[in-house]
Amino acid sequence: MWALLPNIRLDRTMLIALLILSNLLLLIALLWLGKNYLRQRDRRRGRKSIGSNPIPLVEPGAIDPRFALSRAQAPSLDSEVRFIGAGGTLGGTTDTEAWLLAGFAKSARQIFELGTCTGKTTYLFAANAPNEAEIVTITLPPDGNAAGNRAAGDDMAALETAQKESQVSEFYYANTPEGRKITQLFGDSKEFDHEPYRGRFDLIFIDGGHAASYVRSDSEKALAMLAPGGLLLWHDYTPSMTGVWDTLNALHQSGVPLQHIRNTTLVAHRAI
Ligand SMILES: C[S@@+](CC[C@H](N)C(=O)[O-])C[C@H]1O[C@@H](n2cnc3c(N)ncnc32)[C@H](O)[C@@H]1O
Repeated sequence: MWALLPNIRLDRTMLIALLILSNLLLLIALLWLGKNYLRQRDRRRGRKSIGSNPIPLVEPGAIDPRFALSRAQAPSLDSEVRFIGAGGTLGGTTDTEAWLLAGFAKSARQIFELGTCTGKTTYLFAANAPNEAEIVTITLPPDGNAAGNRAAGDDMAALETAQKESQVSEFYYANTPEGRKITQLFGDSKEFDHEPYRGRFDLIFIDGGHAASYVRSDSEKALAMLAPGGLLLWHDYTPSMTGVWDTLNALHQSGVPLQHIRNTTLVAHRAI
């Protein structure tokens, strides 16, 4: 009888340990479920969740020193640009994004844009780039089919938006002196032969079809067309744009280093 007592004590200790362990596991499971629930909810509402964004957030000055803040924490005169405010332009950028894009163009001689729309950014590139700069921009014509080359998993809403944003018949740069720097291409960027442009551009802006397979195709072509040291930018990196969000997160995780510019939906990659 007495010989059994130590065993009973041992069992009780084990029981307490088991209870603590199972409570701990339950707590971990609840925390994991809660975090996933919040992440899904934020995704549905188009908000960013903490921990769901693998791309580091940086200040504009980390991408281009002309945007570095001075000692007074203010942008320098180097960041001054020719500029048109957003005012709800179709498919357009915010004022901060337009300012940064115009500033990046100040030192770019070869610029490529995927997705012209109204041509506002195209115009800002031309207005701010050096005199000898050349800008090539491709877009779907008004009678083009934004879903013509769609793939499984493409977001139909993004394809419908692309169709609407293709109904532009006169671009900002039309009849301007800056227009001489611009070559306008029409067509589906998935069918565009980028080989003649390999390694040529020092600034590329991807803002065409926002469904995943188009973002993937545009990104592959842009990476091939980027010159050494060139800057590649994507627009609309936000959770509600699932095609852009998921593609860029995957690209970053595959080893292409990307940086998300604070207070914008711009993501940048600097070629080495
Ligand atoms: C968001 S708007 C571009 C806005 C413009 N970059 C700006 O900053 O004002 C999208 C543009 O991409 C074009 N686009 C959509 N899908 C395309 C595709 N598959 N190939 C070429 N252009 C496409 C549309 O025709 C539209 O002009």
